[in-house]
Amino acid sequence: MEHDASATLVRDGEILVAISQERLTRIKKDHRFKPDHLINYVLDATGYSIYDIDYVAVSTFMQGFGIRMFAHETPVNCVHDPRTLEILDRGHFLTFPWINDTVSVMPEEKYYAAVDIEIWGVRKPGFMVSHHIAHGSAAFYTSKFENAAIFSLDASTVSTHTPEASSLFMYGSGNKVYKLYSPGCMVGYMFENRCMDVGMGSGTYKAGSLMGLAPYGEVLPQAVEFEDELTASFWERKIAPRSYEEHLKWQWNLLSGMPPHVRFPKEMADSKKSMDIAASTQYIYEKTVTKFLDRLHKETRHLNENNLCLTGGSFLNCASNGKYIKNTELWENVHLMPACGDDGTCIGAALYVTHCIFDVPRFKMKRTSFMFTGKDYEIPNFPEWRNSVDLDYTELARMIKDGKVIAWYNGKSEYGPRALGNRSFLADPRSSVMRDHINFNVKNREWFRPFAPMVIAEKASEWFELDHESPFMLEAVPVVEDKKDLIPAVQHVDGTSRAQTVKQKDNPKIYKLLKAFEKETGVPILLNTSLNLAGEPLVETPQDAFNLFVRGNVDVLVIGEKMYIK
Ligand SMILES: [Fe+2]
Repeated sequence: MEHDASATLVRDGEILVAISQERLTRIKKDHRFKPDHLINYVLDATGYSIYDIDYVAVSTFMQGFGIRMFAHETPVNCVHDPRTLEILDRGHFLTFPWINDTVSVMPEEKYYAAVDIEIWGVRKPGFMVSHHIAHGSAAFYTSKFENAAIFSLDASTVSTHTPEASSLFMYGSGNKVYKLYSPGCMVGYMFENRCMDVGMGSGTYKAGSLMGLAPYGEVLPQAVEFEDELTASFWERKIAPRSYEEHLKWQWNLLSGMPPHVRFPKEMADSKKSMDIAASTQYIYEKTVTKFLDRLHKETRHLNENNLCLTGGSFLNCASNGKYIKNTELWENVHLMPACGDDGTCIGAALYVTHCIFDVPRFKMKRTSFMFTGKDYEIPNFPEWRNSVDLDYTELARMIKDGKVIAWYNGKSEYGPRALGNRSFLADPRSSVMRDHINFNVKNREWFRPFAPMVIAEKASEWFELDHESPFMLEAVPVVEDKKDLIPAVQHVDGTSRAQTVKQKDNPKIYKLLKAFEKETGVPILLNTSLNLAGEPLVETPQDAFNLFVRGNVDVLVIGEKMYIK
């Protein structure tokens, strides 16, 4: 359980189901913890009852009510702060302030706290796992690595904005995840705040927009001149004041020339000035991440085997990920899981308890087990929509070729923010007008937001500068030079694409459609974007998909073995 509120059910290390609350409440990034929604969902999906659950893992942040936590015992490596124990002993509902002061920022050996957790009046033993340990565990235990260094980086875990809450160096070995230390990297905050500064809105929702705007701008000379200071760890800063807020104000003033407390109005969010600031922000972010990852390699070289796990919401920055992975000579293997944001920490907490605390042996986890984690729904017919035919891949490929926009619904929902082929809008990547059409007429979002391609894995290197699989759409890579003119709808202004490679075994239906489209057009690629309208989360149920089809500017809905056509 976590914010972005989510829940999972794990059995002996196997992820049976996982879901973010936003998918169920239809409120994007819904952080209100509603146990009924989430727990009912994971129990219903697996056929278990609350009485069947042996242990409950929580990944630090809990907001709302409905669950009570009690101190259980205080073994070594447990919470020592007397206030926490007092609070837990009294059985108070857990809310932010106590966590901020005590458990979330766990000094040294405090990785987890043993607690009792009461759900619907049923008391279960459990563990509250430190936030970044949960992030790190989600990445390490879903990787194939026996040994790896782990970097967790996000905007914050607490409202007090401390360096310890923003980043953590860890390493994993066999069944165990260990904390190294917090490197004081607070660059996630910068990214989030810059969204507000340029008038885009909250970085919680708009970080992707700032990333999308960056390639339109030019890196400002002062970002280069002050690079050392801008990329410094919290403890290394020399010029700017040390407090986080003061540092951000100094940065903003440096980049924008504005007084520190004056932000751009929202009308300036896509102005040339904002573009340059976005480019500079991305530049600072990339330089910072490179510096810290290189440092992590150096400090763990005797135990990392050149394997790296990246985790935390900051690593949804696919432009940075793509560049670093392409250019680094330090790491041989890099693993990201699709839910590397806070929604993934419920999986991390559960796997940490399973493997690290109880020493249950790891096994080779199938990629799809943490990629498509929703439950199986029975697909209804929608008789009210008269115009429907049986799914025909050739016919569907031809409709895409003719410029139709397809709402594609298939199997279990994806985990994490990216549509990976089960809840997607699909369209022709060759079209020069498709990007504007979907941005303006279908999804109602900013003009500068790019769309991603999904590509047959075996053909990926013919189209993209990609020498490895990229199944989770978390790396932006250059399009091969002589292919650039062929796929304008899935290419950003800088000539890169956030390519997702698709293997037949991971998603046979989407693979079959890619093959059919290739047969029609010679291009083994489809435009793929998340199946949701503006401001909404990814659709979850068949009914959600049908509702979107009826309301939205969509030509075809594919669901089950049917095509519904407008
Ligand atoms: Fe986080």
